[in-house]
Amino acid sequence: MNGNWTGFSKKSPAERLQLLKESGLLQQEYWQPLAEQRTLPLETANQMSENVLATLALPYSLVPDFLVDGRCYQVPFVTEEPSVVAAASFAAKIIKRSGGFETEVHKRQMIGQIALYQIEDADLAAQSVLQKKADLLARADQAYPSIVARGGGARDLWLEQKDDFLIFYLSVDTQEAMGANMLNTMLESLTLPLEELTGGKSLMAILSNYATDSLVTARCVIDYRFLSRDRAEAALLADKMQLASKLAQADPYRAATHNKGIFNGIDAVVLATGNDWRAVEAGAHAYASREGSYRGLSAWTADPDKRQLHGQLTLPMPVATKGGSIGLNPAVAASLDLLGQPRAKELAALIVSVGLAQNFAAIKALVSTGIQAGHMKLQAKSLALQAGAKEEEIPALVSHLTATKNFNLATAQEILADLRKQNQ
Ligand code: HMG
Repeated sequence: MNGNWTGFSKKSPAERLQLLKESGLLQQEYWQPLAEQRTLPLETANQMSENVLATLALPYSLVPDFLVDGRCYQVPFVTEEPSVVAAASFAAKIIKRSGGFETEVHKRQMIGQIALYQIEDADLAAQSVLQKKADLLARADQAYPSIVARGGGARDLWLEQKDDFLIFYLSVDTQEAMGANMLNTMLESLTLPLEELTGGKSLMAILSNYATDSLVTARCVIDYRFLSRDRAEAALLADKMQLASKLAQADPYRAATHNKGIFNGIDAVVLATGNDWRAVEAGAHAYASREGSYRGLSAWTADPDKRQLHGQLTLPMPVATKGGSIGLNPAVAASLDLLGQPRAKELAALIVSVGLAQNFAAIKALVSTGIQAGHMKLQAKSLALQAGAKEEEIPALVSHLTATKNFNLATAQEILADLRKQNQ
């Protein structure tokens, strides 16, 4: 169902689940565990990790209407932070009206490395390895035949001398998997032949999370009229958003926060789809530093003549749809079903689009109302709950809290006590 999701945020969780059921987007077998709150049985958790005691739950939300490459997605988000889902919903809506996102998956391969040391002549050693390139690629494939049967396998190898090391790199088409086990198995099968060919020693053989062969770009073009009904205000906002993106290029203190805003959305979908968020974060932050200083990952450019704001985000997105714990977790299975069982490339394109949308909402708020207005409205609800407010007490407490300039848990508790006295 790509129909009408208006008012979705105003419904109760039970009503949202009912709507999801009626939409036909989620098959019954995936919907049931969500509806019955059976998202991760303890026995499954015990298979996924060690020394398991229990599971830790996080809010599982839905952000409607992400239009990416002409296809509309209802996107699962797992996040504990108030206003992330609201901001993504807001941005997705505006960007859909402006034509949606266009994406480009530059490549989908993973890189691994073997660090060789104690090599007398690095040039000669590299030459010996390159002469055996075809043999070494075949040997890597033999170490992991199932990926070759699936259409993937070792694709390239190269060497670079860095400090005391001659580093051997292997690039592998991992198809639907993230490929850590695959790469590590292939690399370990090559350490002995490489030691023989180079006369050196292998220090380690491991996948790299700097996934520069898995770069994805998302772009969007937003008409000024969606920024504000007021023409002059819309143009001013677009100019300020362009400046905000320039600031994130100039100052690492701002760049870190700018990118954190991007990851508010990215991590939420990476988590919901059972992917390794540490790997995605490590790769993206290394990519943000590729020119020697840490910079913002996105760029916003205003085109005053066409009255359009252009957004672009590129980063490594080595996500998988198979392997790891993806097949084990029922909530993850529901997420993938909700997204129409995407291939890894499609999922990566969607996730980078989500990052761009999240960044749009954050910097639009920052250069206009300020972050506190929207964020604190939602933060107030969390504080109300923490203060012990009952369901029926929440609206009044939230409205009193947002009318107070600076509020915290103590303020929430005081106001709640006052409200209760008044209602006695
Ligand atoms: P608003 O204009 O007050 O929103 O913005 P609205 O009440 O007019 O609603 C507009 C639409 O937003 C709604 O449409 C929803 O789609 C969505 P409707 O459904 O009403 O037709 N929306 C919501 N969806 C779900 N639940 C809600 C909800 N409220 C609105 N409760 C908004 C409010 C929060 C969207 C805006 O202020 C905003 O985008 N703020 C940015 C918030 C943000 O980025 N938060 C992340 C935490 S801060 C941070 O960690 C990152 C940061 O530091 C990054 C950086 O510095 O770059 C900021």
